[in-house]
Amino acid sequence: MAAQILVASNRGPISYTPRDDGSLEARRGGGGLVSGLSAIGPDAGALWVCSALGEGDREAVRRGISEPGVRMLDIDAETHAAAYNGVANSVLWFVHHLLYQTPLEPVFDAEFRRQWEAYRAYNRAFAEALAAEAAEGAAVLIQDYHLTLAPGMLRELRPDLRIGHFSHTPWAPADYFRMLPDDVAEELLRGMLGADRLGFLTRRWADAFAGCCERLLGGTGSTEIGVHGLGADAEFLRERSRRPDVDERMAALREQIGDRKAIVRVDRTELSKNIVRGLHAYRTLLAEYPQWRGEVVHVAFAYPSRQDLAVYREYTAEVARLAEEINTEYGTDDWTPVVLHVKDDFARSLAAYRLADVALVNPIRDGMNLVAKEVPVVSDEGCALVLSREAGAYEELGEDAVTVNPYDITATAAALHEALSMPPAERAERSKRLAAAATALPPARWFLDQLEALRAATA
Ligand code: G6P
Repeated sequence: MAAQILVASNRGPISYTPRDDGSLEARRGGGGLVSGLSAIGPDAGALWVCSALGEGDREAVRRGISEPGVRMLDIDAETHAAAYNGVANSVLWFVHHLLYQTPLEPVFDAEFRRQWEAYRAYNRAFAEALAAEAAEGAAVLIQDYHLTLAPGMLRELRPDLRIGHFSHTPWAPADYFRMLPDDVAEELLRGMLGADRLGFLTRRWADAFAGCCERLLGGTGSTEIGVHGLGADAEFLRERSRRPDVDERMAALREQIGDRKAIVRVDRTELSKNIVRGLHAYRTLLAEYPQWRGEVVHVAFAYPSRQDLAVYREYTAEVARLAEEINTEYGTDDWTPVVLHVKDDFARSLAAYRLADVALVNPIRDGMNLVAKEVPVVSDEGCALVLSREAGAYEELGEDAVTVNPYDITATAAALHEALSMPPAERAERSKRLAAAATALPPARWFLDQLEALRAATA
């Protein structure tokens, strides 16, 4: 049966891992996009079109295994790798997060052109699948920078559809975006403008996109642009974080921390998350505010991400090296200053959220950052939030967080000190206000708002 509501994204709600006995284990996908969209569930009657990402996923497609409401596309592995690793996660991710800084520079050569062709083919595969699955006049919500061209391609195939696109990342300012080859930059913008309506997480990213269109194309044409600040799912998080598996992990963490204070961070290990500078700031805290030595533990969960790319692997190694260095420099027989965990474990993340005295969220740039929103919601006794002014969440949480310039290590160390020193009553008050602001637009509402706005835009 043709679908009335469709969602499209590279990463889908689940992924499959092969077990030793040949069966497939289904696991929830990671990252902000999936956390946000998962709340919709099959009940909404939506069809979620996504990519098969690993061997397990491809095997599931071959065996015809799927979840209700999910269709995985088995795009040829080479095309997918070039589009996902080459264009989306190297070039576009780096442009939107302003990550290119000498000596890390973009290379637009023949290899890039080959990848760009793959990116087009990958977008076309999505457009064709969506065109085949959508009912007459259906609403299609395409997600993120992997699928920038798909709206325009789908518009050509199916002019009857209502097409929306939502960006979970920032959008680069025009001066930076123009680093892309001219024809690529223009094609990306025109692809987006193939949608009836574009959504962004904050006004700042929406304005940057409009600024790019203004500069490169002379305007945004008839496409409407809106802002929907995805919030945390309070109901789900509160229930999930009180289950026995989380209690168990909390007890284990408590044993490691003792009665010391805990500075918690939870991230995919990713250059934009600024984990390395966060560790430098923690080291500066121990150096400049010696009263905290032996009194605080930095619980850092840094889950490996996009390990096919050398730059991510090197960054992951740098995080481990630095944590080790701090432990060697300051650690004592009964105190480990940094507890680093790299194995993704959602229950343990929630346990850390519950006991955090301070949450450190210091990205160089981030579309929203849901961790900043989730911690105050889950926290047992209220938590102080050290927050980068370059995270989308800053627009809603800035007032009650201790805010930092993410590049400034000294200032971040001072912010950690301020957060650790915050009187308990003030901390609890602020945390309560943070939780209220963080849950203003829960995922299900966020999704429905976009759907309604798309319908209104095309009425
Ligand atoms: C960000 C992106 C998502 C992506 C997630 C995880 O949140 O906006 O589109 O799914 O990172 O990254 P990955 O490359 O593992 O899907």
